[in-house]
Amino acid sequence: MQIVILQDSAAVAEYGANLFIQQLQKKPASVLGLATGSTPVSLYQRLIAANRSGEVSFKQVTSFNLDEYLGLDGSHKQSYRYFMNSQLFDAIDIDKANTHVPPGDADDPIEACDRYEQQIVKAGGIDIQLLGIGRNGHIGFNEPSSGLMSRTRVKTLTKATIEDNARFFSSDEYQPHLSITMGIGTILDAKKVVLLATGENKADAIKASVEGALSAACPASALQLHRNVILVLDEAAASKLSDIEFYKHIELENQKLMQRLGKA
Ligand code: GLP
Repeated sequence: MQIVILQDSAAVAEYGANLFIQQLQKKPASVLGLATGSTPVSLYQRLIAANRSGEVSFKQVTSFNLDEYLGLDGSHKQSYRYFMNSQLFDAIDIDKANTHVPPGDADDPIEACDRYEQQIVKAGGIDIQLLGIGRNGHIGFNEPSSGLMSRTRVKTLTKATIEDNARFFSSDEYQPHLSITMGIGTILDAKKVVLLATGENKADAIKASVEGALSAACPASALQLHRNVILVLDEAAASKLSDIEFYKHIELENQKLMQRLGKA
């Protein structure tokens, strides 16, 4: 795992956005795996700015989001489809027909999960997958006890996740307790995975993901199995890691090597 520790959340967003910009410059027809939550919002703002300045285009991009609430259609303000449209898609030159979010309003959600998997395969697989992380180590809506090889499916949300996300719903609004989420196996199939985490409330989950055992108890620990994963953390999210200085040292050595090879 590549672990990059930066001073604050702004630096994390900048670093993460640059990884996506580099990917799009290398392959304009990239398949992007996208995420919701508050963490990626600043990264999306940077991508919007890069699109406006002509640094990148999304015209040939296909995207797949990690998850969606089951029971909400895309016009619901708390749906992840609505979030993606308002936080990113409406502001960039992407063709919305090429953007995919699991259908929260599907008549047959189980069949819709299989179809989502097929659509990812048909698009050629995900080139770069963005992830946030829940306080309990969830990725997408893969809650603790999720199978490490799981595929897109319906998942029940934990009480902790429902409470964490309650801040987005008004008191009279229905808050779903089920979701459709890419599985951990689906996420591990992405060619590159970029996980962003900021703030002290993520420090335990990061510690368990990086230095804990590979375990369904912490779904993000499955990333230990991925050959091309990068965790971009601010100092607060990294604060419980026991080997911070070593991770920083590795990064400096990586940078020196890349410079020497002319790849920096
Ligand atoms: C939700 C999403 C996850 C996200 C998590 C953390 O549960 N399903 O994909 O990573 O929230 O969100 P935040 O970035 O707001 O802390």
